[in-house]
Amino acid sequence: MKKILLLHGPNLNTLGRRETAIYGSLTLAEINQLIQVKADELGVALDIRQSNHEGQLLDWLSESAREFDGLVINPAALTHTSVSLRDAIVASGLPAIEVHISNLFKRETFRHHSFVSAVCVGIIAGLGHYGYVVAVQSLVEHLSHKQS
Ligand code: DQA
Repeated sequence: MKKILLLHGPNLNTLGRRETAIYGSLTLAEINQLIQVKADELGVALDIRQSNHEGQLLDWLSESAREFDGLVINPAALTHTSVSLRDAIVASGLPAIEVHISNLFKRETFRHHSFVSAVCVGIIAGLGHYGYVVAVQSLVEHLSHKQS
């Protein structure tokens, strides 16, 4: 069974009460449940983690990468600031899909640049929480092609 690591970055623990006009009204727990339903349907194992701490995300990537086949990551604000996170994704060797709930390009210009996009297989932005479901589905598809 393929194993996917799903990382949520800073402040995503406050989904459901944070800027709901932009991020929607579902909590992170509710979103995670929907992603899990898709993972079960696809027959893949999913390990979902969230941290507000950059170092914790880096540690998870460096310590646990060998246990997984692929990565789905919403780096949140670290998208726009973190070379360390980009380097950790590369070092993990995991094929990664970057997810953003909001459409970054409809927002402030500082959100238009991502340090991680160039090291990801693909990017999904602006589809709301459904973007995570699409990401898991796309990653599974990507992994099945890599194998053959
Ligand atoms: C976000 C977009 C980022 O710019 C922001 O800092 C977030 C969430 C999104 O999912 O739309 O925290 O990654």
